[in-house]
Formats: sequence, C-alpha cells, structure tokens
Amino acid sequence: MTSFSSLKVKKFREEDLYLFLIAIYSILFLDKPRHAVVNEAVEQMKTQNPKLVAMTNGILRNILREEDLEERIYGKMDLLPALEKKYGYPVETIKLFLQELGPEKTDELLASSKEAPRLDFLILGDEAKALDMLEKEGHEFVPLPLERAYQMIKTAKSLDQIEAYKQGQVYFQSFASQKVAFLIPQGKNLLDLCGSPGGKSFALLAKDPQREITICDVSEDKIDRINENIHRLNLSLDVQKWDALIENPQWFESFSSVLLDAPCSGTGVLHRQRGESKVKDLSDIIELIHQQRQMLDQAAKYVEEGGFLIYSTCSILKSENENQVDYFLKAHEEFKLVDLGPSLEESFYKTFPGKGEDGFFACLMEKKKV
Ligand SMILES: C[S@@+](CC[C@H](N)C(=O)[O-])C[C@H]1O[C@@H](n2cnc3c(N)ncnc32)[C@H](O)[C@@H]1O
Repeated sequence: MTSFSSLKVKKFREEDLYLFLIAIYSILFLDKPRHAVVNEAVEQMKTQNPKLVAMTNGILRNILREEDLEERIYGKMDLLPALEKKYGYPVETIKLFLQELGPEKTDELLASSKEAPRLDFLILGDEAKALDMLEKEGHEFVPLPLERAYQMIKTAKSLDQIEAYKQGQVYFQSFASQKVAFLIPQGKNLLDLCGSPGGKSFALLAKDPQREITICDVSEDKIDRINENIHRLNLSLDVQKWDALIENPQWFESFSSVLLDAPCSGTGVLHRQRGESKVKDLSDIIELIHQQRQMLDQAAKYVEEGGFLIYSTCSILKSENENQVDYFLKAHEEFKLVDLGPSLEESFYKTFPGKGEDGFFACLMEKKKV
C-alpha cells in the first residue's frame, strides 16, 4: 500500500484503509477478474468516502499496471514466508515441498494449485454416437492425443445432466489418468487393487473390452461408487471389497497385470483440492510411504510369471514415486523395470501439474519367468 500511495497510511480513515486492503488482497490472491475488483472498490468508495474515489481508482489501477507486482511484494521477503503469503498453504506443507522439489518447482506447483482443473473425458461404447449426442446438446470439446480422449471446452450443463453421461457413453477423467491405462500391456485379466471410483479400469476396458477385471477398494462407500459407475456405464467387472494391505492367497500368481494406483499425497492434483493439501507435513508422507510399500509387497504376489505390475500415483513427490520403485526392485529381484519408450524419461511416465492438467506418475514392472 505504502509503495503505491503518496498519502501516509495513518492518514486514512480506518474503514477506507480496509477497503483498500481488501481490494489489494482480492487482486493478489483471489481468482476474481482484477478489473472487476477495482470497479467494485470504486463503487463502494463512492458511498463510503466520495473524496477518495479518484484516489482509489488511481492507486488500484497503478497496482494492476505493475508488471512485476509479485516480485515487488514478495521479492524482499524470505522464501518460506513469501510462498506462504503468496499461496496460503501452511508453512510445514511448503517446507515439505521445498525439501522434495526445490524453490522453482515448489513455486510452479503452488501456482498450478490455483488454476481451474481441466475437464477431460473418455468415451465408452460407440464413439460416433457419443460425439453426436454431445454436439446436439451444444457442448464444445476437442480431441486429445489418445484414443477416445477429449477435453470439454464449454458446457452449460452440470456434468450429471449431460445426456451422454447419463446414458453411460462418457466418463469424466483426466487425460493423465486415462494415459495410465494405456501403459497396461495386453493380457487376459487385471487386478485393480485400489480401484474406486474405477477410472483406470474403465479406460482399459474402453480399449480392450475383452479384459477380465477384478476391481477392489477398502470401504463399503468406495465399492458403492464403483458399482454406481459400472451400472451407469453398462460394464461388467468383478467387484470385491478388499484391503490391499492384507494378503489374499486366492490371488497368488493369478493375474497377467496388477494395477496399484496407490493412495498418495495427491500433490499432482492440488488444483482439484480447493487450495488445500491432503498432506500437511512430513509425518503424513511417512505414513503413506509405509502403506505404499506394504501394498507393493502384496501386489507383487498376485502377478503371474511374465506378467506386469503397474504402480501409479497422482503425486509428484520422489519419495512416493521413484524412491518407491527403487525400494521395490531392490526387495523383489523377480521384477524388472520395463522401458516405456524413447519419449518417456527414465522408464517413468511423469506429468507435472499446470494449465489445469494433473500431475501423475506411473511405471511398469515385469515379473521375470524362472
Ligand atoms: C488414487 S485412488 C484410486 C483411483 C482409481 N484407480 C481410479 O482410477 O479411478 C486410491 C484409492 O485407494 C483406496 N484405498 C486406500 N486404502 C486402501 C486399502 N488399504 N486397500 C484398498 N484400497 C485402498 C482409496 O479408497 C481410493 O479409492
């Protein structure tokens, strides 16, 4: 405030000062259009203190014109308090991100968390018919570089009112998540250990309708969500309530692929969590890492010789991704990492969140034949 006004702060009446501070806060931290914030503040000042209308307009528009506004405000602060003020995340969470990602990537991650999520969808069933239904209802969408994947650009309806959704022709799921299903090699069957609400299994069935899928989750309400989706999409899967931490001898060496889409910090999808993080500090991550390892150890038992284990998370933290794969391959010499192709770095499928897209990690491990 002091850098943009020649009048000393203490000369303002308290209520006028608050009006300025609220407007400046809205410009900096809220998703509202910045010019609308200025107009609202000017209108409010007209009723509150008409003598300050021109000054309100002038100060706030000067702030809008400032090209390196963020640098001017945060540049002189230490990194941690600057990031805390800029993005509103707790210090402990930011410390954790800084430790894992370093300053630049932490800033990028936190900035991405304020963006609106992109609305992608997958088409099941007859693609031409589904596209026709969507067009006739007036939705605008574009294809994405993956079979049956599209991005919704504009829709006037809430998702559950879209006819193609109601009739089970489309399933809303991020492109990055759909892509994980495309890493699953051909095979007879699949065990989806942490499956609810079912997205990756559905994406696999869209490209491989013959696949026999057993899908599990730990709680009744999660199983209900899978069943609702299966019913609406008119699909057939074997649904079982099961805790992935517990061994199931009936499944030993029984699946050509096992997908462990593990519970994780969700740091790749902060933009879907209304600016909050599921993980608050190091202790949350340590607990998750422990669970993920236990689940990986169980999952390994269910893969048949020559079959595959797919490990994925919507986290961008190394401790939940690359380090877990490292741990697993050291503990399980019967598995080897599969090369995903020249375009994918170090055999891992990785995306960093930004422009509304999700951050994801996945890799493929093959159980050697003895
Ligand atoms: C990342 S989500 C799975 C998303 C799903 N694969 C999809 O693509 O729609 C992780 C799931 O793991 C489940 N989960 C957490 N702990 C579990 C456990 N001990 N056993 C089985 N599932 C568990 C959660 O309920 C959650 O639904």
